[in-house]
Amino acid sequence: MFYDRERELGKLKEVYSYPGSSFIVIYGRRRVGKTALVREFLKDKLGLYFFVGEKDETLLLEEWVGEVEEKLSGHLPSYVKPKFGSLEELVEFLLDFSRERKLVLVFDEFQNFRAVKPSFFSSLQRLWDEKKDGSNMMLIAVGSYVGMIKRIFMDQKEPLFGRADEWMKLKPFDFWTAWGLVRSLVEINPRHFVELYSALGGMPRYLLYVPRYYRRDSIEAIRGLFFDEFAPLREEGLNVLKLEFGRYYRSYFSILEAVSLGRVTPKEISDGTGLKPLTVGKYLSELTNHYEYLVREVPVTENPLKTRKVAYRISDEFFNFWFRFVYHNYTGLEEDPGKVFERFKAEFPAFVGATYERIAREFVKGLNLGFKPERVGRWWHKGEEIDVVAYDRKNVILFEVKWRDLSTKDAKRVLKGLEEKAELLPLRGSYRFGIIARELEGKDELREEGFLAFDLDDIIR
Ligand SMILES: Nc1ncnc2c1ncn2[C@@H]1O[C@H](COP(=O)(O)OP(=O)(O)O)[C@@H](O)[C@H]1O
Ligand SMILES: [Mg+2]
Repeated sequence: MFYDRERELGKLKEVYSYPGSSFIVIYGRRRVGKTALVREFLKDKLGLYFFVGEKDETLLLEEWVGEVEEKLSGHLPSYVKPKFGSLEELVEFLLDFSRERKLVLVFDEFQNFRAVKPSFFSSLQRLWDEKKDGSNMMLIAVGSYVGMIKRIFMDQKEPLFGRADEWMKLKPFDFWTAWGLVRSLVEINPRHFVELYSALGGMPRYLLYVPRYYRRDSIEAIRGLFFDEFAPLREEGLNVLKLEFGRYYRSYFSILEAVSLGRVTPKEISDGTGLKPLTVGKYLSELTNHYEYLVREVPVTENPLKTRKVAYRISDEFFNFWFRFVYHNYTGLEEDPGKVFERFKAEFPAFVGATYERIAREFVKGLNLGFKPERVGRWWHKGEEIDVVAYDRKNVILFEVKWRDLSTKDAKRVLKGLEEKAELLPLRGSYRFGIIARELEGKDELREEGFLAFDLDDIIR
């Protein structure tokens, strides 16, 4: 069963429709669904799928020639028997073949050519430059190691520098797509889903575990998935990230761990890890810009390029959870898993609260607020914080987000506090106030009084 990816498939179809040749790079972390996406795309097209295993060139060619025969023989004169002595011969043959008709060519785990035959990158560049204009090839390079893929195509010293016409970063599903997928598989209440999403994020592969592990209790499902002896996701962070970072993975891991624990400024991270500030700066910049596992946030009223008020966050919900509760407790999990699980249970509600804030911010971005906000985000200053701020030159809307069930009275108290905090904001305009709770009593009454009032029912639609 293949679910969604409508936008990505749409983009691929568009590129496919362009006359001539295109080179497209699809990248994203392991297991996000890159292979599934290209296979879905190839279904109704003339195309070849090659997985670049880390093996000998001759073995790869032996493996791939079958695919060439199967897919292309109907289009070749019967006396042509495909046979290739090298990767270069194969690519040249296919480029020539595609002079007459559109052909999709996929190399999955493209970065592995580095191990198979490093000189192939420059011969591919030569062949591509020479033949692409006369051909109709859609060449797709798929890669899991974000850092390595970027180096191959973006480093000026590399032969393939600048050859990619299109880039597609494949991300986990957003909250609503993930909900749609899970809901189509299993009966689950939205609260439990928010809890599971806080741990699994929008990774299709992990979401597919839900029907097997969820028995009307999300905490027990998380135990089975992360904390039990044979829990399938217990080693997952290591499996996915270790190869990405290579030999120096420990330092990257310590930084990600520190961030997951709420040490979010360079100083806090340096204090928390014992790494020198300069080293931390270098790793933070790599993790943010190169690997894209961290995002750098600033208070929504600040200029991101000028401000010194920055906070880092792990962009992938799954890794955020895994570093916070699994990696951080590795020793404990060996010695006393029961204790680790108890601590997890105590700390998890606040963790879900933070996830719910991010979901709420995405929800607000999709709302019709009566104006088009210039920015939507979080604001903080010296210990004070506002969960969601949306504003333009004339309008400001503030939200408090609570992963709790609130009575009308609670809600009014929260809104009053929010009005007081608003005094601290350096924004002009007419202000409105809102609340997004898990469950909110008396939404209509609050709305009649001019507040914006939502709960999970509205978010889940
Ligand atoms: N769009 C999707 N719909 C349903 N399942 C998916 C989807 N994308 C990925 N999966 C599941 O996740 C697993 C991992 O996806 P895969 O394409 O192998 O990831 P990658 O190639 O990025 O490492 C697949 O085996 C499949 O079960
Ligand atoms: Mg794959």
